[in-house]
Amino acid sequence: MTRQLASPRLILRPYSPGDAAFVRGLYSRPEVQRYLGDGTQRVRTMIEARAKINAWNERYLAEPAQGLWAVCRKGGTITGSLLLKPIPDSVTAVERDTEIGWHFHPDHRGHGYATEAARVVLDHAFACGLERVVAVTNPANTASQAVCLRLGMTHLGPSDAYYDAACELFDITAPTSGKEPGGEQS
Ligand SMILES: CC(C)(COP(=O)(O)OP(=O)(O)OC[C@H]1O[C@@H](n2cnc3c(N)ncnc32)[C@H](O)[C@@H]1OP(=O)(O)O)[C@@H](O)C(=O)NCCC(=O)NCCS
Repeated sequence: MTRQLASPRLILRPYSPGDAAFVRGLYSRPEVQRYLGDGTQRVRTMIEARAKINAWNERYLAEPAQGLWAVCRKGGTITGSLLLKPIPDSVTAVERDTEIGWHFHPDHRGHGYATEAARVVLDHAFACGLERVVAVTNPANTASQAVCLRLGMTHLGPSDAYYDAACELFDITAPTSGKEPGGEQS
């Protein structure tokens, strides 16, 4: 379930059908999609955007920790998305780990919003009992890697553990988990 969360400057809330224009505007952009999946996916129409919003909200309904949040400035402007979801292992596609991700509109980058929103989502993840969260970044995506480092995530180096794809892998463990970071299993 995408539970409402807050940070000093931001409200994180579920997307609603009224946000379809923002979702289309964000996910139709090559510069946003460039490092997501194979980089070719686009949300081109309002119908596709509404379908995405419905799918996100249904997908996480039964999951207390997981979600896909619209990240809004406290004045209301939507700036981007934060996600916390299961991540499929390479080859088997079994989902054992949880990933965090961030997608921000170019107009709202360079303000620290992605890092601030991700901190809140990590706190929420650990409060819900998760012990470890990973982030997979395209090797060329230095902006995303910088977010991971600002969050205090550990850089585990190149990996093909997830999505059958090469990435630079980061992880972070719950403050009280007592586990060493870097518990990737191949
Ligand atoms: C990855 C992505 C979210 C990073 O966005 P970002 O705005 O650079 O990241 P942050 O929110 O952490 O902002 C950090 C910047 O804000 C600046 N900043 C300005 N005011 C700030 C404030 N009050 N507090 C903190 N930082 C602030 C920081 O100095 C930093 O600037 P720098 O990059 O010049 O060093 C963005 O590039 C994006 O959406 N990319 C497309 C989607 C994508 O690839 N997602 C990742 C998939 S793995």
